[in-house]
Amino acid sequence: MQKEINHSTALAIERAQKILQKGDLIGLPTETVYGLAANALSDTAVAKIYTLKERPHFNPLIAHFTNAEEVKKYVYFNEWAESLAKAFWPGPLTLILEKKKEGGVSLLATAGLETLAVRAPAHPLAQRLLQGLDFPLVAPSANPSESLSPTTAQHVKNSFPNLLVIDGGPCTVGLESTIVDLTGDKPVILRPGILTKSDIENALGLQLGETCENTPLKAPGQLKRHYAPSIPLRLNITQVNDGEALLSFGPHHLIAPKEINLSPTADLEEAAANLFSALAELDSPHHKGIAVMPIPKEGIGLAINDRLNRASS
Ligand code: TXA
Ligand code: MG
Repeated sequence: MQKEINHSTALAIERAQKILQKGDLIGLPTETVYGLAANALSDTAVAKIYTLKERPHFNPLIAHFTNAEEVKKYVYFNEWAESLAKAFWPGPLTLILEKKKEGGVSLLATAGLETLAVRAPAHPLAQRLLQGLDFPLVAPSANPSESLSPTTAQHVKNSFPNLLVIDGGPCTVGLESTIVDLTGDKPVILRPGILTKSDIENALGLQLGETCENTPLKAPGQLKRHYAPSIPLRLNITQVNDGEALLSFGPHHLIAPKEINLSPTADLEEAAANLFSALAELDSPHHKGIAVMPIPKEGIGLAINDRLNRASS
């Protein structure tokens, strides 16, 4: 891990900060694996992550911060979180906590969940980069979907040649962070990592709950607790029924009492950015249901359709 920050690295960090402020992506060195980072508060920036990774579904993302004080602006900390943050942050540990709505984290980043995954990475360059920003970064591993997680800047460059990658040397851990869910009756490990069950239990002074069936490890993006609207969703509609709100896409001639167009110009990335906030807005007892126009099943449209199918079943 690089300790001294030389001139060219300092310049790369400055460039990366400008790119992130504009709503674009960069390659982020962390002690675990390299991340593909975007402004966590911007739906359009987050949509670019899913496009570039070619993710077939909206897996919720981890938000990265400098320290626990920053994290507390975005989630409700509990005693377990205090103990674990004191013991392991900054470091390879991600905590799942209840999200503060006023924090403004992109609904797309959390795939509509009411919880948020948070961590403070230890890598000095990640710390330096985050210190110069007034927003947290969401960052999945910087690899195309279903390929290996990158542990050097060159790995990231091989997959995404046009991305600015801050070179922080080879990752010292080389394995994704341990994820601990602190929102249940007992803390539970959702993804194993270099911090083991007994490390976590010792820091908490209690025994962890059994890892539940549907962990992100076993079923990435298939979390049970995905947000689903409380009214029925009808997909691939050609007509709006009485009392339904309309979730439209592209130009059309349909008429409804309430409509949100995900992208009037039929831009799939824009549609992805708007999806969760649109569903939340149309999810009202004033409507009998939500009629959803067909969305092309290509590129990020696959993730949009996957999400809509889940929300309608
Ligand atoms: O070490 C790491 O954690 C790396 C570096 C870049 O920080 N990041 C990483 O992100 O591994 P990613 O997107 O590849 O994995 C995130 C995992 C997924 O399995 C996702 O389902 C889970 O975290 N996750 C995110 N938010 C969650 C939430 N609110 N509840 C439960 N699981 C969540
Ligand atoms: Mg990954």
